[in-house]
Amino acid sequence: MEQEFHRIKRLPPYVFAEVNAMKAAARAAGEDIIDFGMGNPDSPTPQHIVDKLVETVKNPKAHGYSVSRGIKGLRNANAAYYERRFGVTIDPETETVVTLGSKEGLANLASAITTPGDVILVPNPSYPIHHFGFMIAGASVRNIPAIPGEDMIEALKRAVQHSLPKPSAIVLNYPSNPTACVCDLGFYEEIVDFCRAHGIWILSDLAYAEIYFDDNPPPSILQVKNAWDVAVEFTSMSKTYSMAGWRIGYATGNKQLIGALTRIKSYLDYGAFTPVQVAAAAALNGPQDCVDEIRALYKQRRDVLIEGLAQAGWDIPSPPATMFAWAPIPEKFAHLGSLEFSKLLLKEAQVAVAPGVGFGEHGEGYVRIGLVENVHRIRQAVRNIKTFMRNHNAGEAL
Ligand SMILES: Cc1ncc(COP(=O)(O)O)c(C=O)c1O
Repeated sequence: MEQEFHRIKRLPPYVFAEVNAMKAAARAAGEDIIDFGMGNPDSPTPQHIVDKLVETVKNPKAHGYSVSRGIKGLRNANAAYYERRFGVTIDPETETVVTLGSKEGLANLASAITTPGDVILVPNPSYPIHHFGFMIAGASVRNIPAIPGEDMIEALKRAVQHSLPKPSAIVLNYPSNPTACVCDLGFYEEIVDFCRAHGIWILSDLAYAEIYFDDNPPPSILQVKNAWDVAVEFTSMSKTYSMAGWRIGYATGNKQLIGALTRIKSYLDYGAFTPVQVAAAAALNGPQDCVDEIRALYKQRRDVLIEGLAQAGWDIPSPPATMFAWAPIPEKFAHLGSLEFSKLLLKEAQVAVAPGVGFGEHGEGYVRIGLVENVHRIRQAVRNIKTFMRNHNAGEAL
């Protein structure tokens, strides 16, 4: 039966698929590909968290359906995290809900609050669910260029001025995937004031809250008092505790938004497996030196990568946070565009990166390099890239 499903038609083919297919073919041919293409943490989850899971899974009482909005102990643990990290007090009954990873929360909140045709403002480039969560929900997505060094608030004001109907929500993501840009509280204050004045909901994605490398930990938008009128924030265990496969995140903030997400989730899921939730609570309530270690690991990788590539002739701004470097394509290759450059790097340097255009049109001209290989492999990649650059400098124009 030939049928074009309305929602599926709105989902373009995955831009990364082409590079992924080449990567798979190269590996099948026996090549050793150094893979910086994905954002999948490569470190194991800290042992005490795994131990808690194992202990809890032995209890048959933990085997039934769990609680869609998250067990009380985990919501309390998230409240305690917000209190100690941001000095923000939340009511674990009404102001936070546990999600099956923040991706699920973002997608389901989009579908909970969208009337088809609503205009939603989404940064571009962005992590794909920011855009496609709302596309799937039937919204009209308007992109706001979120380009390092450019004024995002001016772009937001322009977008609101020129949108009809008036936008009903905006997505924010600092520290950003893919650009690694960070923001300060003053930025959030300005956005909150603007969005309150224009009746715009804010969905803030703080997945990289704990992956930062300087003395200024990323703030929470919920530190802005008035944000509670309009904002919800998504946090995640995936990167903070290397728990990406466990699928635990949180939405916290405005009661009406949390209520909407909790309601829609109550129809869709029974919550994460209880032992996973118990272990996640142990992670949040337990010793935090594992988080320091994870942070230090990414920082060391970042430094090896950025310094090594600078020596190879590729200058990349050092990311202040996240597990990614957002790398402008070297001038000599700029005309290729990010997809062709990524393919060339894979073919000639055996290094896989994510083409910037895969994160939106304003990502063109960049590639995203994930800090998901160990230092030894990063050094190998740097050597390969050095040779690649040298060959092209000496050789033909592309
Ligand atoms: C900005 C951002 N938000 C959300 C997610 C999804 O995280 P989770 O594993 O909590 O669904 C990611 C994952 O890479 C991300 O980069």
